Amino acid sequence: MSPVLEIADLKRIARRRVPKLFFDYADSGSWTESTYAANEADFRDIKLRQRVAVDMTNRSVATKMIGRDVSLPIALAPTGLCGMQRADGEILAAQAAEELVIPFTLSTMSICSIEDVAEHTKAPFWFQLYVMRDKDFVRSLIDRARTAGCSALVLTLDLQILGQRHKDLRNGLTAPPRLTPKHLWQMATSPVWVAAMAKTQRRTFRNIVGHAKGVSDMSALHSWTAEQFDPQLSWSDVEWIKDYWGGPLILKGILDPEDARMAINTGADAIIVSNHGGRQLDGAASSIRVLPEIVEAVGDKIEIHFDGGIRSGQDILKAKCLGAKGAYVGRPYLYGLGAFGKDGVHKMYDILKTELDITMALCGERDIENMGRHNLYSVFGEKVEHGPAASSAA
Ligand SMILES: Cc1cc2nc3c(=O)[nH]c(=O)nc-3n(C[C@H](O)[C@H](O)[C@H](O)COP(=O)(O)O)c2cc1C
Repeated sequence: MSPVLEIADLKRIARRRVPKLFFDYADSGSWTESTYAANEADFRDIKLRQRVAVDMTNRSVATKMIGRDVSLPIALAPTGLCGMQRADGEILAAQAAEELVIPFTLSTMSICSIEDVAEHTKAPFWFQLYVMRDKDFVRSLIDRARTAGCSALVLTLDLQILGQRHKDLRNGLTAPPRLTPKHLWQMATSPVWVAAMAKTQRRTFRNIVGHAKGVSDMSALHSWTAEQFDPQLSWSDVEWIKDYWGGPLILKGILDPEDARMAINTGADAIIVSNHGGRQLDGAASSIRVLPEIVEAVGDKIEIHFDGGIRSGQDILKAKCLGAKGAYVGRPYLYGLGAFGKDGVHKMYDILKTELDITMALCGERDIENMGRHNLYSVFGEKVEHGPAASSAA
């Protein structure tokens, strides 16, 4: 077997091991997938500034995200159906995150429930909330997250209507999968996945089934989720949710400076510059493309997090240099899980950390906290001006 050296290797192995309908669910964007592609491609238009003859010893890549120590400036992004990439996927990813000293964010639409993850981990995790029409259910999710010791609430603002992903429709995606001949064949050719799945009972949306009114089985769940996301979500909802939760709040899905300014008025602790991994508004700008203007608009007033298209440690550094305090990774850890379970999440982290650390050294820096625009040569074709005092390496 060829060695696993980069995130693309984990993706290649996950593609072989995970049934096609679930692999496709991760590896898809909405409609033409142009925003999904741009999220990755636009990183290539940012060039790094190489420095030489600088002391490279004793490097540190640790920092903080909303005051929490992180060994690398990353968090695991909330991803629905994570437990379908690998049995008990959310528990395995949360355990890996705990071991690696990075935050894990559990999606509302997870397979393992808030309680399942809390039972199998010690480090507090973050909970991602979707706002439903049924406000009693929203409050009950917040209550459950509080009881489970979650230390931040990540409120997603960009999915009140679902962006259409052609692959999911063509594949007839459900969780658990309907046992059509096509799906049975996909599972028969994924023996590692089946063996793990056979050992768990966690195969449906356990934050919802048995908790939301009238949802006790799969057929009820389908119609419930289709109807439940609240299309009237507004900034005043953000305010009551902030008050009801009472803890650190992160607003996810900000892609416009004007929305970033609105986010500040809510008193949230951080925003995530994100387009949902290119899964919602196809044709929207890539996250990295809009990061500089959002940093310019609100960077001194709120902590800015980033996600979308991170596929290497260099990408994390570029986002950091442009003003993000930290970045979330979605698909990279799902590929890790699908390829090797918990070990795959560790592998993903090792790959990103090594790439980031070596890049930082070759940029002439020893502490990630010191990295900034002065470490960039150009941003989307525009050369960065470097005054003599601007570089900590000079
Ligand atoms: C398979 C998958 C499921 C996702 N589910 C959710 C979700 O339930 N809630 C949410 O806020 N974001 C969700 N996202 C978006 C991620 O949190 C994140 O914004 C995105 O994955 C970042 O892009 P990347 O995958 O290129 O790292 C999902 C993304 C993927 C790939």
